[in-house]
Amino acid sequence: MAHAKPSGHEKIETNNFLLITLIIVAIAIGGLVEIVPLFFQRSTTQPVEGLKPYTALQLAGRDIYTREGCYNCHSQMVRPFRAEALRYGPLSQAGEFVYDHPFQWGSKRTGPDLHRVGGRYSDEWHRIHLINPRDLVPESNMPAYPWLDTAMVDDTSIGTHMTGLRRVGVPYTDAEIAAAADAVRGKTELQALIAYLQVLGTARK
Ligand code: HEC
Repeated sequence: MAHAKPSGHEKIETNNFLLITLIIVAIAIGGLVEIVPLFFQRSTTQPVEGLKPYTALQLAGRDIYTREGCYNCHSQMVRPFRAEALRYGPLSQAGEFVYDHPFQWGSKRTGPDLHRVGGRYSDEWHRIHLINPRDLVPESNMPAYPWLDTAMVDDTSIGTHMTGLRRVGVPYTDAEIAAAADAVRGKTELQALIAYLQVLGTARK
C-alpha cells in the first residue's frame, strides 16, 4: 500500500494547490447553474401585472427608508410558508421587485415584515406611529423618527435618481423625470416615507 503509485484522488488530496483550485471550479459551476438562469427567466425579470415604477414622492420616501436603516429591523419579503401568508398576506413574487434597485428584502425581523403593509393602516396611523411608535403600540421598541415631520424632501436630486434608475431598466418617461422636482417640493420626509409605505406590495393585493 505505502509503495503503491498514488491514485488520481490521492494526488488531488495531497496537493493543496490542486485541491483548492478544483474546489473553486466545482463551486463556480454549481453557482453558475443556479444563478445564470435567473437572469433569463420571465418570472424573475418581468414585472408582475399591475406593478408601477415608484412615483417621485414614493421614491424619495424609499431613499429615507434606506437612509434611516428601517431594513435593519424590517424585511420586505413574505416567504413561502403558510404561517407567513396568514400573518402578512399573499407570498412575495420575484416580479414584484423588478423596479427595486437595490431591493429591500432584508433578513432581520425585529419588527414585522412590511412587504404587504401598503393600505393596511391610514396615513394618519403611520404619521403618529413614526413620530412615536409608543403612542399606538405601547410595548413597541421601534425608534421614534420625529424629525421626519419637519425635514423637507430634497428636490434637487430626485430627477437624477430617476434618470439613474431608467438606465437600469425602470421605465420612467422624460415627462415624469422633468416633473419630479415639482412633485416632491414642499413635502416633508414623513409624507414621502408614508407614500412609500402605502404602495408596498399593493400590485398584487
Ligand atoms: C429597532 C428596530 C426597528 C427599526 C429600526 C424600525 N422598526 Fe418599525 N417596527 C419595529 C417593531 C418591533 C414593530 C412592531 C411594534 C410596532 O408596531 O411599533 C415595528 C412596526 C412597524 C410598522 C407597523 C407594521 C405592522 O404591520 O403593524 C411599520 C409600518 C414600521 N415599523 C415602519 C418602520 C419604518 C418606516 C422604519 C424606518 C424609518 C422602521 N419601522 C424602523 C422595529 C423597528
